[in-house]
Amino acid sequence: MTRPRIAILIGTTRQGRFADQPARWLMEMAGQRDDADYDLLDLRDFPLPFFDEPASPMFVPPADPVAQRWAQTLERYDGFVIIAAEYNHSMSGVLKNALDYAYREFNRKAVAFAGYGGVGAARAIEQLRLVCVELQMAPVKAAVHMNMPEFLGIWREGKSFDDYPHLAQAANTMFDDLNWWTRALKVARP
Ligand SMILES: Cc1cc2nc3c(=O)[nH]c(=O)nc-3n(C[C@H](O)[C@H](O)[C@H](O)COP(=O)(O)O)c2cc1C
Repeated sequence: MTRPRIAILIGTTRQGRFADQPARWLMEMAGQRDDADYDLLDLRDFPLPFFDEPASPMFVPPADPVAQRWAQTLERYDGFVIIAAEYNHSMSGVLKNALDYAYREFNRKAVAFAGYGGVGAARAIEQLRLVCVELQMAPVKAAVHMNMPEFLGIWREGKSFDDYPHLAQAANTMFDDLNWWTRALKVARP
């Protein structure tokens, strides 16, 4: 089997976002592993319009050029880590829009989540799991949840991820779980 490729996807785009900090940290963690090749994908690099295609990508590939580049990029990966904020107890609008813009490129691939905010963005992540199942993805059980004390500590109080060692432990468990599923599906996928 060729080495699995995993994309770590930043799920927010707003100015001043916190998302860059978990993204940097997860890429550092991923860099210490030798089980897969990890790339960072930033939705800011894919300025998709609000979905405005004649049909779902399940039936018709999008005509929008950014959406086509988005789909071609997703195609390269065997698995995903989605970095999720919680917006009104759900995923951000830009993330949902980006998920809506592809289909086949997500099918039968594993996905894991790292969230931050109230209850570690668990409410957003549970909704993401449902959306990802509809995209025929396999959401893995292990996830990273950065709760308010860690989130605010890192964002506002000068703390670092090293001050919360349970997060690294959770991230490694998540990467292990994601890799198991990514490899299993890579073999099984046509
Ligand atoms: C529109 C909006 C809705 C939000 N709703 C929630 C929420 O339901 N739960 C929560 O814990 N934080 C909520 N927040 C606060 C976010 O957790 C916080 O702004 C976080 O930094 C967002 O991620 P980002 O900085 O990567 O955009 C909300 C923020 C915005 C902008």
